[in-house]
Order: sequence, then structure tokens, then C-alpha cells
Amino acid sequence: MKKIYIETFGCAMNHKDSENILAELKGEYSQIEDSSSADLIIINTCSVRERPVHKLFSELGGLKKRAKDGVKIGVAGCTASHLGKDIIKRAPYVDFVLGARNISKIKEVVNKKGAVEIDIGFDDSLYSFGKGEVSNFRKLINISIGCDKKCTFCIVPHTRGTELSIPLNLILDEVKKGVENGAKEFLLLGQNVNNYGRRFSSEHQKIDFTKLLREVSKIDGVERIRFTSPHPLHMDDEFISEFASNPKIAKSIHIPAQSGSTKLLKEMKRGYTKEWFLNRIEKVRNSVKDVSISTDIIVGFPNETDEDFAETMDILEKARFEQLFSFKYSPRPLTEAENFENQVSDEVASERLKKLQSRHLEILEEIAETRLGKIYDVFFDDKRDDCLIGRNSEGLIIKIKGNSEFLGTTQKVIITESNRTLAKGQIFIKTD
Ligand code: SAH
Ligand code: F3S
Repeated sequence: MKKIYIETFGCAMNHKDSENILAELKGEYSQIEDSSSADLIIINTCSVRERPVHKLFSELGGLKKRAKDGVKIGVAGCTASHLGKDIIKRAPYVDFVLGARNISKIKEVVNKKGAVEIDIGFDDSLYSFGKGEVSNFRKLINISIGCDKKCTFCIVPHTRGTELSIPLNLILDEVKKGVENGAKEFLLLGQNVNNYGRRFSSEHQKIDFTKLLREVSKIDGVERIRFTSPHPLHMDDEFISEFASNPKIAKSIHIPAQSGSTKLLKEMKRGYTKEWFLNRIEKVRNSVKDVSISTDIIVGFPNETDEDFAETMDILEKARFEQLFSFKYSPRPLTEAENFENQVSDEVASERLKKLQSRHLEILEEIAETRLGKIYDVFFDDKRDDCLIGRNSEGLIIKIKGNSEFLGTTQKVIITESNRTLAKGQIFIKTD
């Protein structure tokens, strides 16, 4: 058996693509963690911001230097889609380039020196990938490919193409296969999950994301369902009510705001206002006790004034996100905003990012304190040293000492220590 080393950058969909690559090559290659003895090295890339793209070439150089003679090197993912054959021009030792929309062609390209497969019109929404052996308890499942939105800052629609939903029967088959392999938690993936059902590449019954959630939750053996990411614009009341009432749906949700300024949201083409966003947050918080909400925020988007940034700080105060992913705006090729006037200086963007993040840390400390003494149902899916690690329904990472017999089970845990990102606790035993 030959050996494959794979490195993955970026979002959960990229991680799923890497899983699919490994599953497709399973008969021929087994995965290893040491690149220097690999016969095949693949870097699965991200291109949403500029930094990971720079990192790619330095990473490639380093890997090549340490690799054994005769190694094959492939570049996959979003940067592969957008740079295509230029990658081989810049790094001639690269053997093949495989775009984010072309992962099902892995077996073809792996033995074809110089292959470049980056067609973003390609349809692999009907393709059944091979069966992998990844994490035992948690399974990632793609429900759609591509993205139909045109957020002016975002390169993804240009690297993953337009949106196609994956047929319901393929999704349910994947879930069932996961259950058979021992998975209990399922993470449904798409760039815009709650647009599910808008377009299929073949005849399909009428369906939307809320109905899909119901269908997945009907399968025996599915204990927890998560999904990422919904778009705030498509979060209708029916969806929020399913999210709140379906006990199998984990009570953590990513609601990417991007900005608090309605003027900037318009320039970003997000399709909602600050008021709509806050109204959705309020509705979710009022419908689901102890829900955990995470978000993405970009600072320093072109034309962002101090007043616009103050609106973003204001949504932070009002929404009190349990988790924040915040970025300095990075102009990307192929996007509309790259050509906008009034780009914000790096200095101002850095200052705003710092201000946003430090206020968020304070909020997290306040939230952490309220968790002390609470009792949560924790699903333990990992073990490190003498600790078991799991998550509660809200996605909080919780550690307990010992008790390794509880791996793969859900237990009641009382929180004894809590900081911004992690809580520690003990198995809760009722004594009455
Ligand atoms: N719909 C996707 C978004 C993919 S990009 C999802 O559901 O995850 C992930 C995040 O990267 C975006 O939400 C945005 O906050 C950030 N991002 C995208 N393009 C960016 C850019 N040009 N500069 C800075 N951050 C960006
Ligand atoms: Fe990007 Fe907007 Fe789609 S952030 S992935 S274009 S929803």
C-alpha cells in the first residue's frame, strides 16, 4: 500500500473534501502523518483571504524539500480552482491541480502528470464518494455544493461555482452509512445551508432546509445534528421554530453577520439590514434557552467609517455572541469589492479588529461565569491523556478527568471551572 499525506486549510467543507479524497484513494493509499515518507502529498487549500494563498507556496516548497524522491504532489481546493495551471508554473514540481468543485476526479488526476481539473461548472452533486474511515462518532455530510450568493468580498462562488443541492436520498444514505459506522453526531455542510432545495441538477421533489432537518432527524441512531452555515437572510420563522423544537438539533448556530452597518451590508450585497439581523438573533435567543450563537465579522471593508464600525460594536453588545470569528477585510481577485474605492488602511483595520476582539473577550468572561454549577448533557467523543473531551448541545467544549468508559456516550456533567473557551466538570450523580 502506498502512503498519502494530506494537509487541509480552511472551512469544514474543505475538511470534508479531504475526507472524500482519502475515501476515494483508500484501496491504493493509506494515510500517514509524516510527509517525508509519503508517496503522495496533497495540500487542500483555502482562498478566502490572501494570507493562506501566500502560505501555500512556502508550504509547498518546504514539503518538497523534505519529501522522498519520486513523490507526487497535488494541490486541491479553492486556490487550485482560482490559480489553476499557474500553480504548476510557479512550482513546477507540482504534479496535478484539482479544483474544489472537481474532487470526484481525484482518481483520474492522481496518475496524470500535469493534470489541471478546475471546471467550476462541473456537477459532482450526484456523485457517491467512497466510504472513508474517519472520526468514529462525528460525520460530516455535504448537502449542497457551490454558492449562489454574490457577496462582494467573497471569492467562494468563483472557486466552488453556482449552488446545487445534493439529492435527499444521497444525503440520507450517507447518514445511514454513518450510523452503521458508529457515528452519532452529524454535521450538515454547505456554503449556504438554508438555501437547500433551491436547485438540483436532476428532477427532485420540492423540499427546503427545514424539511431536510426533519428527514435527517427521523433516522434511528442520529443523536445530534449540527449544520454550517445558514445565511441570516433565509432564516425564516419556520426554520427557527424547527431549530428550537427538534430535540436532535444541537442548540448552537453560526449566524454570520459580517457587519453591523446597514450601509456596508448593502455594499457587501448581503441582502439584510442590521435590524433584520438583530431581529433574527432575538428570535433565536427567545425561542431556545441557552442557545450558543457564533458569527463571522469583517472589519475594514471599503468605505467603513468610524460610525459603521460603531454599528458593528453595537451588534456585538446586543447579540453577545458565544463565539466570534473576526477578520480584517482582504481584497480578493475575481470579487467586486476588490475594485471598490476607499479601501481602509491596514492600520485602521487592525485597530478596529483589536477593539472588537478585546470587547468580545470581556463578554466571553461574563458568559463563562454564568456556566459555573450548570448541568449539561455532554457527548464525549475524544480522549486525551487522562481526560475525556466532549461538547454539550450548545457546542461548548467540556473536559472531565478519567471516566474513559464514557467515551462515545452522553453523560450529565456539572461545571466546576469555566473560562472563555473551555469548561471543566465532573460527572453529575443525582443523590436524592
Ligand atoms: N458561506 C460561507 C462563508 C465562507 S467564507 C460559510 O458559510 O462559511 C467564511 C468567512 O470568511 C466569511 O463568513 C467571511 O466572514 C470571511 N471572508 C470571506 N471573504 C473574505 C475577505 N475577502 N476578507 C476577509 N474575510 C473574508
Ligand atoms: Fe461567500 Fe456569501 Fe456565499 S460569504 S460563500 S458568497 S453566502
